Amino acid sequence: MGMLRVASRAESDFDVSAYLARSTTVVNRALDRYLPRPTAKPRTLHQAMRYSLFAGGKRLRPALCLAAAEACGGAWTDALPLACAVECIHTYSLIHDDLPAMDNDDFRRGKPTNHKVYGEGIAILAGDALLTLAFELLVQGRLGRRYEHRDLVLELARASGSQQLVGGQVADLEAEGHPVNAAQLRYIHERKTSALLACAVRLGGMSANCPPAQLAALTDFGHHVGLAFQVIDDILDVTQSSEQLGKTAGKDTAASKATYPAILGLERSRRVAQQLTDRAFAALRVFRGRAPALAGLASFLLNRDR
Ligand code: IPE
Ligand code: IPE
Ligand code: MG
Ligand code: MG
Ligand code: MG
Repeated sequence: MGMLRVASRAESDFDVSAYLARSTTVVNRALDRYLPRPTAKPRTLHQAMRYSLFAGGKRLRPALCLAAAEACGGAWTDALPLACAVECIHTYSLIHDDLPAMDNDDFRRGKPTNHKVYGEGIAILAGDALLTLAFELLVQGRLGRRYEHRDLVLELARASGSQQLVGGQVADLEAEGHPVNAAQLRYIHERKTSALLACAVRLGGMSANCPPAQLAALTDFGHHVGLAFQVIDDILDVTQSSEQLGKTAGKDTAASKATYPAILGLERSRRVAQQLTDRAFAALRVFRGRAPALAGLASFLLNRDR
């Protein structure tokens, strides 16, 4: 675990909360600019999109995207449209995830879910519109010579498509009420959660014109942070209150969801999350201590309580 100690020392002077607060402000301002006004027709749709987008998400994916750009020597401004695109995809996936036909949840980000407020039809369409808007944002930014906009489009399309995020959601639904083993659970987590997190950091790197070795390191980092992220999400569903989470706690057990606590128990699940985070720290070695924000965010994600 020497790796972990090195990473921890590098990040010890690093104030992750301040970093997240700063990136959240910048991302929120950009999202507000990118989204159609709430008065634009059709009003209900644009209000529904804004309702979920500005309901108070943690904005971890955009922060990871900006931090990855920074680690590769890039600027936040070039990564910003990509960070916002990822948050649009994430928010769309949550709106649909909460629908009665999927996880059937009434609370999200501390508020009633989109379909509870706007009805199922508008919630589905608000999700569709956020998903589409993401691709509009992707082609906004300035790029260096290594990557073209088509690379970014391919990247996000693959991460959110039928073989990654959507495919993972399918596997999650199909596993409901059935016993799953660790390999099947890993398959679900890699797709429904890890793919978009890895995509967030890869897009950040691409916005900074990163060389292939850095892109590979970001992929490895994002993959492991993403897996740890979903293990922690599963743990929090068992250990935290609905008030603390801003979404209904205990739903996974109630719906017989395939989760790590369900198959390994809490203690072993925590150890898995720690091991995955250690792997993520190890992936940052190529940055030679110049990725304090990525390291800080990885340990923040591991130790979060909501
Ligand atoms: C929740 O993601 C959904 C998962 C993939 C586990 P977050 O915990 O990042 O949700 P918000 O964005 O803060 O609401
Ligand atoms: C959601 O996983 C993953 C996606 C939306 C892609 P969960 O169903 O565990 O997320 P929560 O717990 O509802 O936030
Ligand atoms: Mg779900
Ligand atoms: Mg859910
Ligand atoms: Mg969950």
